Amino acid sequence: MSNKIQTLTGYFHEYAKSVTNPEEFWSRIADSFHWQKRWDKVVEWNFDGPDVKWFTNAKLNITENIFERNLFTLGDKTAIIWEPNDPNEPNQEITYRQLFEKTNQFANAMKAQGVGKGDRVIIYMPMVPEAAVAMLACARIGAIHSVVFAGFSSSALADRIEDCSAKMVLTSDGNFRGAKSIPVKEVVDEALEKSSSIEKVIVFKRTGEDVTMKEGRDIWWHDAIEGQSIENKAEEMDAEDMLFILYTSGSTGKPKGVVHTTAGYMVYTSYSFENVFQYNKGDVYWCTADVGWITGHSYIVYGPLLSGATTVMFEGVPTFPDAGRFWQIVDKYKVNQFYTAPTAIRALQAYGTEPIEPYSLKSLKVIGSVGEPINEEAWHWYHAHVGKGKCPIVDTWWQTETGGIMVSPIAGITPTKPSYATLPLPGIQPIIVDADGKELKGNSVEGNLCIKFPWPSMLRTTYGDHERCKQTYFSTYPGMYFTGDGVKRDEDGYYRILGRVDDVINVSGHRMGTAEVENAINEHPKVIESAVVGYPHDIKGQGIYAYVICDMEGRTEDNLINEIRDTVTKIIGPIAKPDKVQIVPGLPKTRSGKIMRRILRKIASKDTANLGDTSTLLNPEVVEAIKDGAK
Ligand code: PRX
Repeated sequence: MSNKIQTLTGYFHEYAKSVTNPEEFWSRIADSFHWQKRWDKVVEWNFDGPDVKWFTNAKLNITENIFERNLFTLGDKTAIIWEPNDPNEPNQEITYRQLFEKTNQFANAMKAQGVGKGDRVIIYMPMVPEAAVAMLACARIGAIHSVVFAGFSSSALADRIEDCSAKMVLTSDGNFRGAKSIPVKEVVDEALEKSSSIEKVIVFKRTGEDVTMKEGRDIWWHDAIEGQSIENKAEEMDAEDMLFILYTSGSTGKPKGVVHTTAGYMVYTSYSFENVFQYNKGDVYWCTADVGWITGHSYIVYGPLLSGATTVMFEGVPTFPDAGRFWQIVDKYKVNQFYTAPTAIRALQAYGTEPIEPYSLKSLKVIGSVGEPINEEAWHWYHAHVGKGKCPIVDTWWQTETGGIMVSPIAGITPTKPSYATLPLPGIQPIIVDADGKELKGNSVEGNLCIKFPWPSMLRTTYGDHERCKQTYFSTYPGMYFTGDGVKRDEDGYYRILGRVDDVINVSGHRMGTAEVENAINEHPKVIESAVVGYPHDIKGQGIYAYVICDMEGRTEDNLINEIRDTVTKIIGPIAKPDKVQIVPGLPKTRSGKIMRRILRKIASKDTANLGDTSTLLNPEVVEAIKDGAK
């Protein structure tokens, strides 16, 4: 871990080196990994394509860097601590050697079921160690995994299977979540009625509920690994071979498959993990995300395991069996670094400090935040009651597309400021531009956040549609990667993320495209047109507000609202269910027919004092009607 930043001067020094000579900088970082063949060139790029390559022509396998590279020193060290949903069920502590064997064995099982290099494999699983084993086994044999959050509906799952023509699904019979047990296999069966590419389904037995196993297609996990060797020779992968696809919502159309490749992702997730969290040998680290999101990929599985860390994986929810569960787990495993989302902090804050009081939390050294802007109140509560005033908060800004943390304090080194993600990590070159793409130089500026130079873990494309990648990220401001976020750089040069500037809303730290929710609402036969906006929500950060024009015949308003909410749950999943649905007589439109979302956002936020000039609208009269009926 010689690449760990030790002091603030050290940070500035490393940052300067990473900008003046990125090739030399990343080549030094990459040297500590195991390469089957070294690279010819560190980086080759243009953002017009976009065409980005890191560590050109190098050969490697990311799992060799987790296992073989470290086995002599780490074999008996705990890799994963698994805490089940129910605190009375036995937990698991899996060593690096055991994880290696499980990975190899499952890799062999997948191969025996006909999956090989380049095939796409969907992982739709609960938070059990087998989910990590599944990801690593794919990486071992060069299959491309696409983890789908197990809360997504069957049609959302089917869309993802279809989009990447996946060959296999890895799932479970059911999932435990708090007091509930969710019949996951049923969801998969339903999804597979709509998709044709899947040849095999491997089912991990978790809840023991009855499931239908389709002859010739479905096989139990325990049967699939039966008799398989615990040895497996890692597939040789090119640095730019795809490691995984992860679907994420954008402002238009269906979710897109963000593609991450092998070498750059490996180098960056490990480097950023060690530095941001200041992970030390022997520490216990816990990220509360789900492996269905990028945070779970980079900072539960790949980053920590590449760095030889002990990573906690929690199956349950923060409030089960009570609102002290997180803190009980922190004390139980003496967690040193704890990484969660503002929405969880706010939800727990609502219970007051009583649930925390029985726990000492004295093992904590660093506490982190990710997924959405953390408001000052939540920041102070987290700092005072969880961090006991002594743990630095790392407010980490990044995205599915960036693969790893981009702007964040280095724990204990960068002075923090509530609600500021502070400074870019070495190698990251942010630039703030105005609406016309003009750079806003210096400090005390506010604008749109772009990145002007490639970093190793950036997305390479969107699966099956490179043009979409270009349009979404590299066309708004030519020559730069556009993040979709607004940002302020204050008088100290610190970055504060202000939230999305596009039609994406951030609900409990999860990205939701307004168009995607509208499309789901419009599937209801009584819906004529809809418009969805975000509004401030005390716990979720943003809530979903839907304005809907309906044919009311044969329905009461309440019925219809419930049906619309159910439709969205069915088409996308419960996370996209609108918090508020308002039936409206019309939507405010410009003369060219464009919906005036600005007005709808203001009404949803109860900020109606100044709606601006509405007289140029096609139908100014609806604004009053909408205002009167606002929820
Ligand atoms: O708006 C930013 C917000 O989450 C978006 C990325 O969402 P997703 O791809 O789902 O990844 C979330 C986990 C990395 C960003 O465009 N966001 C993420 N982290 C922060 C944040 N906003 C403010 N502060 C953060 N720390």
